[in-house]
Amino acid sequence: MQKTKAQILKHHGGNAEHARKMITTSYGRRHDEKFWQFWQQKVAKNHQEGDGIVDLGAGIGQFINDCANHYPSSLVYGIDAADYMVQHSLDLPNNAKLIQDDLHNPTVEIKDNSLSMVMANMVVHELTQPIKMFKATYSWLKKGGRFCVIDLVRQPLEEYLAYKYQQTSLAAEQTSVADLEDAFEHFLEHNRYHGEDIIYMLKECGFKLIEQKKTGRFIRILVEK
Ligand SMILES: C[S@@+](CC[C@H](N)C(=O)[O-])C[C@H]1O[C@@H](n2cnc3c(N)ncnc32)[C@H](O)[C@@H]1O
Repeated sequence: MQKTKAQILKHHGGNAEHARKMITTSYGRRHDEKFWQFWQQKVAKNHQEGDGIVDLGAGIGQFINDCANHYPSSLVYGIDAADYMVQHSLDLPNNAKLIQDDLHNPTVEIKDNSLSMVMANMVVHELTQPIKMFKATYSWLKKGGRFCVIDLVRQPLEEYLAYKYQQTSLAAEQTSVADLEDAFEHFLEHNRYHGEDIIYMLKECGFKLIEQKKTGRFIRILVEK
């Protein structure tokens, strides 16, 4: 767990407050009306009253807060490893719970076949390997339960640098070794997988692909148990 906490902080540029602010302030934009339409029509397709819901890499609990209000008869769990997320949890409804655990190898006790929906939003690329998390998700979901993965996927170096380091000129004299190391390390971390790689891993863990949609640097994948 200590290793994972250090790894997450490094991935977040060593600045916990900034990372928390960036992800929490973009939540509303990323979960607009269109997103909720998709969620209700596609992810919740086989949801029944009382089925549980899990958010993997739940941050401060914004998504579990919304789900707990949308589905008051469901228990909604969020899982996150970072102190600087779970210790800043929203004040959650009674049917929501934010749990601290390492998704590299989840140990949280959730009953097999008890969930109808799981979300992993922007967390797969932060893990060294997501296989144990995918396998646990498969066990927790009921037959017909659905799993939505949203993440950053590979893009060319030029596009990545132009987006993330807008003021940086790669070969300029003033660009230091430290600047370059930072840029190239982040490039690798945010460019771990192609969409096909994530789909391959999900299928290896037993899931059936329902749909995939790529928009710019992001992919949204929906699979079913
Ligand atoms: C980019 S944030 C996304 C937060 C939220 N899903 C959202 O979309 O707003 C990724 C989250 O995954 C968590 N995370 C990264 N690696 C993890 C691990 N190994 N175990 C548990 N949580 C992890 C981070 O602490 C962070 O809160």
